[in-house]
Amino acid sequence: MTLTNPKRYTVTAALIYANGPIHIGHLAGCYLPADIYVRYLRAIGEDVVFVSGTDEHGVPITIKAKKEGITPQQVVDKYYVQIKDSFEQFGISFDIYSRTSHQAHHEESQAFFRKLYDKGAFIEETTDQYYDEKAQQFLSDRYIVGTCPVCANENAYGDQCEKCGSTLSPLELKNPRSVLSGEKPVLRKTKNWYLPLDVMQPKIEEFVNQHPEWKTNVVGQCQSWLKQGLQPRAMTRDLDWGVKVPLTDVDGKVLYVWFDAPIGYITFTRELFDQINKSNTDNTLTNSNIAPHLNNIKSNNWEKYWKDEHTKLVHFIGKDNIVFHCIIFPAMLQAEGSFILPDNVPANEFMNLEGDKISTSRNWAVWLHEYLQEFPDKQDVLRYTLCANAPETKDNDFTWKDFQLRNNSELVAILGNFVNRTLVLTQKYYDQIVPSPLELSHENKLILQSIETFKENIGQAILGFKFRDALFELMNLARMGNKFLQDNAPWKLITEEENTDKVRQILFVSIQICANIAVEMEPFMPFTAGKLANMMNLELHKSKDIILLEVGHVMAEPHLLFDKIEDAAIAEQVAKLEASKAANESANLKINEAKPAVNFDDFAKMDIRVATILEAEKVPKTQKLLKLTLDTGLDTRTVVSGIAEYYNPDDILGKQVCLLANLAPRAIKGIMSQGMILMAEDLDGKLSFVSPVDLKSNGAVIS
Ligand code: MF3
Ligand code: ZN
Repeated sequence: MTLTNPKRYTVTAALIYANGPIHIGHLAGCYLPADIYVRYLRAIGEDVVFVSGTDEHGVPITIKAKKEGITPQQVVDKYYVQIKDSFEQFGISFDIYSRTSHQAHHEESQAFFRKLYDKGAFIEETTDQYYDEKAQQFLSDRYIVGTCPVCANENAYGDQCEKCGSTLSPLELKNPRSVLSGEKPVLRKTKNWYLPLDVMQPKIEEFVNQHPEWKTNVVGQCQSWLKQGLQPRAMTRDLDWGVKVPLTDVDGKVLYVWFDAPIGYITFTRELFDQINKSNTDNTLTNSNIAPHLNNIKSNNWEKYWKDEHTKLVHFIGKDNIVFHCIIFPAMLQAEGSFILPDNVPANEFMNLEGDKISTSRNWAVWLHEYLQEFPDKQDVLRYTLCANAPETKDNDFTWKDFQLRNNSELVAILGNFVNRTLVLTQKYYDQIVPSPLELSHENKLILQSIETFKENIGQAILGFKFRDALFELMNLARMGNKFLQDNAPWKLITEEENTDKVRQILFVSIQICANIAVEMEPFMPFTAGKLANMMNLELHKSKDIILLEVGHVMAEPHLLFDKIEDAAIAEQVAKLEASKAANESANLKINEAKPAVNFDDFAKMDIRVATILEAEKVPKTQKLLKLTLDTGLDTRTVVSGIAEYYNPDDILGKQVCLLANLAPRAIKGIMSQGMILMAEDLDGKLSFVSPVDLKSNGAVIS
């Protein structure tokens, strides 16, 4: 059951850990759909706040700090700024983008904890937890890795297996080891506060069951959790980075990051309203973390957005966050008692990259800040591609080829082409003035009416979280326009005096399609929508109806909306990914261990000489062997060498190599091999010749 006719919307996007930059997977999974949804709500005049920020606590932050040799605070300070800036440049239109390390958030989440504590909502329990004796620290969540009991992944974390998605607790891991020291941890007793989710299960189940309309992937995960039976979950941790547990006599403990982080949505909403209200009295919006869309925020009281049952609360997240937003946070909210529960949690699946899982540690990603630098002014192309290909129902793949294709054959060839032809012809024939159609033909009236249907379909799809469908429908509107122009070919009719009325009609209709494209595309491609609106001298005003530009309306100079992306730009991106793959592969290779010492006499026994390859041929029925004929200075002899995978026989004739000439002869595949060619074997096993740097006489001795 979803809220019908909500009075207002509170839309949140996951608070990403401030331990690394944003990549396209984050955008496609969470931030882009959230932004499209909110922009659409604003466009139809709804009351909405859009809240997000960074999650600055938890083990992922401290691990990053340790790796970089800086403090956790330095880590979050660095990434907060970078993440916020790149979202801004990408047009993600948060009303507020704040951080959980702010004092206000510490206070908010402590008050929340305290309220549950005072109500007796927690159970206090002393249990065995893993402890790293070397690092002198308890190991929770991501401080501990081991083998997943479900899928046998050897690198599962203490809280989650990223391979199979199972949520885990450290004690479930097989062969646990500490991330800090690599050592096997010991068990130590410690006291923590748990939410008895087992006892709370019936109420949570009731809540989840009220929402059969949620996306199937979301309902599926929730049901599988509920079926397994919920377990009590610790809401405190033995760590020193985080929000301090607000109880006297408790030291060295912080709130579980998944306890404090979602409360951040509430803190940030309050912060937003505090700042708006403050600015109403002193007329300044000083804080750079807010950019409120004041026309859409219709109340000045934050509580309306969190405590009024007519408010629709929607959490946008990626699929790894489902349980926290559909079960644990709602359980916290139920226990607290004064807040509304989420009405929908439209989680997406994952976006892969060129057939491989996106990975920060392997640098297998398209980083937003790099994209923005390399493709300035092409935010909308990425927005378009990620939305057209969004992982709404299953994991999907981003490829640079597809990115290019979507730009060149959809944005340029369909949308851009239609708009450009319409505006250029209007400029040419009517001085950029909307011409009078006199009386519209029946067919043309139908076309104008159909715009309404497109508009409705787009809106319905967006409100139903089907952003791909919505975008496809937008493109269909452009396709219709393109076909209309093509079929009517005004550029032919204009030459015939008796058809000039028709041309006016055709362009009048085309202009109206363009204007409505500008409005409808705004949630998806706000930069281009703005450009088009400027060109048409049109305000993207808030309206549920289609817009009609009046006869005589004067438009501005037309420009191209999109331009072609050339192969070279794509090749550069692909090469960049290949380089990071190669760097990873070589980083994973191990240097062979050193061999024991030998004395000079051992070495001197070997007769190593320069020789030249005279003939080379593959040994029949083998993959690896070449039969070589060598001039050794002493004689001409045959050597069989396992290098056929690395060298073509024809390419190595005349090459000088080094030969171990006194290796006892032996038969290989029936050929007597007299000696061995020295090869350098790279870490990945690839072989190449060792040759003298300058040409030497055959038979020259190597010593
Ligand atoms: N930091 C988490 C992540 O990046 C998301 C937290 S969302 C919130 O996966 F609800 F907790 F805020
Ligand atoms: Zn697993």
